[in-house]
Amino acid sequence: MSRFVIRGGNKLYGRVNVKSAKNAVVALLAGAVLGGDEIILRNCPNITDCKNMLKILKNLGCAVKREGDVVCIDPRTVCRHEIPSDLARELRSSIFLLGPILAKLKVARVAYPGGCEIGLRPIDVHLKGLEALGVKIEESNGYINCDASAMRGGHVHLDIPSVGATENVMMAATMADGDTVIYNSAKEPEITDLASFLVSMGADVRGAGTSTIYVRGNTRFHGTDYEPIPDRIVAGTYVIASAMCGGELEICNTRAEHLESLISKLRQYACKITVESDKIIVCSSARPYARELVETTPYPGFPTDLQAPMTALASVSKGTTVIVENMFETRFKHVSELVKMGARIIVRGRNAIVVGVKSLSGAEVCAKDLRGGACLTLAGLAANGVTVVHGVNYIDRGYEDMAEVIRGLGGDIVRSD
Ligand code: EPU
Repeated sequence: MSRFVIRGGNKLYGRVNVKSAKNAVVALLAGAVLGGDEIILRNCPNITDCKNMLKILKNLGCAVKREGDVVCIDPRTVCRHEIPSDLARELRSSIFLLGPILAKLKVARVAYPGGCEIGLRPIDVHLKGLEALGVKIEESNGYINCDASAMRGGHVHLDIPSVGATENVMMAATMADGDTVIYNSAKEPEITDLASFLVSMGADVRGAGTSTIYVRGNTRFHGTDYEPIPDRIVAGTYVIASAMCGGELEICNTRAEHLESLISKLRQYACKITVESDKIIVCSSARPYARELVETTPYPGFPTDLQAPMTALASVSKGTTVIVENMFETRFKHVSELVKMGARIIVRGRNAIVVGVKSLSGAEVCAKDLRGGACLTLAGLAANGVTVVHGVNYIDRGYEDMAEVIRGLGGDIVRSD
């Protein structure tokens, strides 16, 4: 397993260019299966989740090519309807392909998805949503077998506003007979981006970004040339890094409106943040002040994907923060590692009580999921002494060249494979 060796204490100065959002790109790659011609996606990050998604597309029969950060997919040759378990277990978003495969081939056999172990992560809402469109589903031996020969548009009420379920139903509905209304949809920017991408290929999808999405079926899809939205979680991670380490960072290619919940929270932490067109500039010279409560909720609330980095920041801020994780059941695995570095944190169920300490001290720690890995890296950068972060392959799922980017900002971090 790869590791980062970090000598903490350096301030960070310079510019970070943010690539397209992992959680948008993986959904768009699923949607690419629907295309009627070549699809070009720009500014795609070179991260493991994208690589694994491309492997699955190839396995389904798509022609796939990557040149730098441009990915080209030709889905006209899609011929297989199965995602075997060795490919599906590599990432959660393999399940996002269920809707598109059904839309295109009317039949699918998909193994249960993998992904970071941050909670139960069932897929019942995805399956109920597809059933509401007339898909027949049967589960056996770790596979979901679906028959969409009678799929038609309809009214779908999602029990919870699941990001993945909204995406799956939206994509399936584009090729069903008739119109679909999805109630209680997720409102994350990645949903809006997927809708824009589908529209750019000829679909009629309205209302994305609100809780009711309307999809007109029987789309005749063509190809597209599309740049997905910037990664708000990567941008947010570097914003938090700057607040923890001090210095001045300019984070470019961002949409500050997607990070309003973080920016307003950090301003309460007394961080100086300026927004200029597509840039977020963070300037920090003093230890931040903790501000009582950080509670994760669906967009536009505070994102669960920034909870771990935010816990790292709270652990070195003046005062106490209560962090409430409402989205996933076991997303505090970074806490025991932060405690090894001298953090004062108690976890009770879904709440972590973080009493800020003046400084953390370097230690040997282990990332157990993607965002937890980012959190430990930030903690190491701010700590006294040397920190070794094991399990860097989790970080590779969602952050392109994290060590190199940080080194470019003046951080003392080396990767050893
Ligand atoms: N849920 C169910 N049943 C379902 C689906 C979801 O109970 O059928 C529950 C989940 O267990 C969870 C909650 O609903 O407690 C929210 O899950 P959601 O379906 O919205 O999440 P997701 O689609 O699996 C995406 C992102 C996650 C991000 C969440 C929430 C992708 C590939 N993943 O996951 O990103 O945390 O939305 O915003 O889009 C990450 O990037 O580190 C990451 C985990």
